Amino acid sequence: MSELHVAQVRMPKHVAIIMDGNGRWAESRGKPRTFGHKAGAEAVRAAITFARKKGIESLTLFAFSSENWNRPEQEVSVLMELFMSVLKREVSKLNKHEVRLKVIGDRAGFSERLQKQIAKAEQLTAANRALTLNIAANYGGRWDICQAAQRLAERVAQQQIAVTEITEATLASELELADQAPPDLLIRTGGEQRISNFLLWQLAYAELYFCDILWPDFNENAFAAAIADYSCRERRFGLTSAQLQQAILETDQKAGE
Ligand code: IPE
Ligand code: IPE
Ligand code: MG
Repeated sequence: MSELHVAQVRMPKHVAIIMDGNGRWAESRGKPRTFGHKAGAEAVRAAITFARKKGIESLTLFAFSSENWNRPEQEVSVLMELFMSVLKREVSKLNKHEVRLKVIGDRAGFSERLQKQIAKAEQLTAANRALTLNIAANYGGRWDICQAAQRLAERVAQQQIAVTEITEATLASELELADQAPPDLLIRTGGEQRISNFLLWQLAYAELYFCDILWPDFNENAFAAAIADYSCRERRFGLTSAQLQQAILETDQKAGE
């Protein structure tokens, strides 16, 4: 890695995390899986604090996938209750710390009570600017792309746009997270190296970071290690390394003028 690139080291603006390993964390302690989910909620708090401290603009956490409904009924119901109680308990704290909360995913799948709680939390924190915290719940990347396609199709049917106006830009504008830069860094804890139907479109150019740490053990040091790894990567976006170095040089020269 050249000196030049070191000079370019930056914090990611947007970090997405697949918080995996709660069940195994609990099982390794002889406890029910739901014990791991409760411990996982604590790790969420630590991750939010870290992100705020480091000036990360968006943090997107995968809390519940559209496929997770297929888990045992009791585990699903504990997860829903946990989501509800954490929302209730933490929202004023989030608000105090200027965190804007957004829930992404198909919320129609949730109880009316939970939907109301989500809407309330989003409204309360809507004007906050320190950090945007996106919680992906009943979220699936394929669902996200489908719902965007449906919205565009509806506009074509209403003759508001032409078929040729269905472009990468217009499709992206209908996706969840359209108001934010795409994730620069995806972290997955728990040792698996897959995307599990998370942000399929938005992760197109994210740097991927997999670690074996189980989510409840993912602390500030672990988060810092992921950022340090990210900062050593060269993000080429299809260019050659030489082109990239030239572009950095030109940017630096402009900044110096
Ligand atoms: C991630 O932990 C949390 C959710 C999917 C809700 P898991 O529950 O998947 O934990 P493992 O992967 O079984 O250990
Ligand atoms: C992905 O974890 C979803 C969340 C972290 C919420 P899973 O544990 O459900 O993923 P798979 O089943 O191992 O792919
Ligand atoms: Mg898992």
